[in-house]
Amino acid sequence: MDVLNEDQLAYWDGEAGATWVRNQIHLDQLLGPFTQALMTGAGNVSGKAILDLGCGCGETALRLAEQGAEVIGIDLSREMLAHANQRRGAKANPEFHQADGAVFTAERSFDLIVSRFGVMFFNDPEPALRHLRSLLKPDGELLLACWQAPTLNPWMSVGGRAIAPFLPPSSEVRDPKAPGPFAFSDQTYVGGLLARAGYASIEFESVVKALTVATNLDEAMAFQNQIGPAASAFKSLPNTVVAEATAAMRAAIAPFCGASGVVMEGAIWLIRARYS
Ligand SMILES: C[S@@+](CC[C@H](N)C(=O)[O-])C[C@H]1O[C@@H](n2cnc3c(N)ncnc32)[C@H](O)[C@@H]1O
Repeated sequence: MDVLNEDQLAYWDGEAGATWVRNQIHLDQLLGPFTQALMTGAGNVSGKAILDLGCGCGETALRLAEQGAEVIGIDLSREMLAHANQRRGAKANPEFHQADGAVFTAERSFDLIVSRFGVMFFNDPEPALRHLRSLLKPDGELLLACWQAPTLNPWMSVGGRAIAPFLPPSSEVRDPKAPGPFAFSDQTYVGGLLARAGYASIEFESVVKALTVATNLDEAMAFQNQIGPAASAFKSLPNTVVAEATAAMRAAIAPFCGASGVVMEGAIWLIRARYS
């Protein structure tokens, strides 16, 4: 397999992929409102050739195939792809392949390239987006779900913010555009990337939803410790402060816990761009 994003391959084809497989049902429920927005955005897909970029455990690819599209899902994680294949069962559609979207080639071109949170991990996004455009038909379209800023996504930021004071001081300043969940949160930056990569008719739709993160506080804590920015921060905590940091995170999430579970807001950009 040709790979340009080696560090992402190491990350997703390792423990991160395994964690997403373990949490697949929970994640697909949690992300359901955004999946629905993506499906509505895709419109009538019957008979269309679709590439699902960073398809992970297959949720979007499977849904698009159910609606009559011919779908190829690509991802870096063999474990997530194996899980996607298992979910597909005996059917031939969708196909799932391990590939880096920055260099993936296919024998066919696509009417649509979709991605649910799988496009923000390229080391060099502009050439990757230009390459993806070359996989589209001349009337083809790109449809991306990408997270807006952390402050608009408390479900991903509240936990990490609560434990930040317990982390060892660091001189490292993180580049907000470095590969990661929020790399495509700046509309002006992403619009520029897409335009320079050759796309036309670039549109951003803000979709904000209440997300049921967990059924109760304990489940929310267990989840936050496995996936997302809080989980990465947790791994860097010195042992001596873990208990205190855990209590701080619990106190920060507790106000979101109510009769319907732990409900927190999430905000994405639904980004649409045409080949020409
Ligand atoms: C946040 S997960 C989302 C997975 C899935 N789309 C979902 O919504 O459940 C990001 C996915 O993008 C994949 N990914 C990251 N960089 C990629 C690349 N360069 N080419 C293909 N897939 C990539 C990862 O392996 C991972 O499965």
